[in-house]
Amino acid sequence: MIELWCRPQHEPPTNVRIGDGVARELAGDSAGRAVFALVDDSVALSHADLLPPSWTVFRARAGETLKSLTQAETVLRAMAAAGIDRKGLLVAIGGGTIGDVGGLCAALYLRGIECWQAPTTMMAMVDSAVGGKTAVNLPEGKNLVGAVHPPARVYVDPSLLDGLPEAEFKSGLAEAIKVGIGLDAALFAILERDQQAVQSRNRAAVIRVIERALAAKCAVVESDLREDGPRRLLNLGHTLGHALEAHGNYTKPHGLCVGRGLHVALDVATKIGAISRADAERCAALLLRYGHALTPLPALRQLWPFIARDKKSEQGSLHFVVPTGIGRSRVEALPHHRLQGLIEGL
Ligand SMILES: NC(=O)c1ccc[n+]([C@@H]2O[C@H](COP(=O)([O-])OP(=O)(O)OC[C@H]3O[C@@H](n4cnc5c(N)ncnc54)[C@H](O)[C@@H]3O)[C@@H](O)[C@H]2O)c1
Repeated sequence: MIELWCRPQHEPPTNVRIGDGVARELAGDSAGRAVFALVDDSVALSHADLLPPSWTVFRARAGETLKSLTQAETVLRAMAAAGIDRKGLLVAIGGGTIGDVGGLCAALYLRGIECWQAPTTMMAMVDSAVGGKTAVNLPEGKNLVGAVHPPARVYVDPSLLDGLPEAEFKSGLAEAIKVGIGLDAALFAILERDQQAVQSRNRAAVIRVIERALAAKCAVVESDLREDGPRRLLNLGHTLGHALEAHGNYTKPHGLCVGRGLHVALDVATKIGAISRADAERCAALLLRYGHALTPLPALRQLWPFIARDKKSEQGSLHFVVPTGIGRSRVEALPHHRLQGLIEGL
């Protein structure tokens, strides 16, 4: 078992355990507490053994449709009906959508109760379960309503990935590739070197990627929990990624949109001279090797309304993250008209 700690300023730390079978420790670790578990429907079926009879289990259909205020209210009311009090615990078992809604409900209920995360998708294991960002969507855009509420514990059990569909595995890997490109050259090298092992889900290779991606994320979150500075770098590929998701009415997996958004970020970085052509080509090649193709983008006039509403947009400029080398990136404040010019025709 690998143990990491994420210690954001002014917040209790998050204990992250990574290893086969760690999710089996949930029941014992929570013994004696009132537990409300928000569980992905498909996982509740295939891993019913993780859910002790003493827990209140709320099964939910995962996906972006779960990330709405209406669905969050349903969960909150179920928590109240179950009599969860301030010492109660919300355990989110599922992918990023379950974790985001579960985390938000834990943040809101009685002004905040403890949250544990047990991620079951690659997306949630390499990224969303750690860091404390929680959110639901509005029709106007992605993640527009949320809270920062770091989990006290995260149980990353790669054996839960066994039944995960290939497209979801590939989607989750996009966030690890993002970290490799933007923050961690060593992770980039691992992804290049171990591509076959990772894609065939060799357990040791997958754990190496998860550990590296989470360690990089923890380091960023520790220095900037609320995204005033370095945490913005984690948005690499997400300006276009979120716009593509919203434009597609949230029917496309998040990571596939991020993968396309990473290509755009590389193109923008190349156009403004932030990255060498050789490094940009190496990053794009890694994306292509992991199946993130240069699919045609919708017309800019269709995408732009979603880009302009991005959370990273302030006073006519957008904080756009550009890669500057392998494992390096920076935030560029780009006026809207300049960004339009850079994206037009890609
Ligand atoms: N909070 C953050 O920091 C953060 C970071 C990255 C992404 N996100 C969010 O995460 C969401 C995407 O997460 P996701 O890709 O995990 O989506 P998801 O939760 O919708 O899960 C994807 C699919 O996998 C299925 N599934 C989950 N676990 C499974 C398993 N073990 N076996 C078989 N099927 C399983 C689900 O039922 C669902 O159909 C997006 O909403 C994104 O905004 C949040």
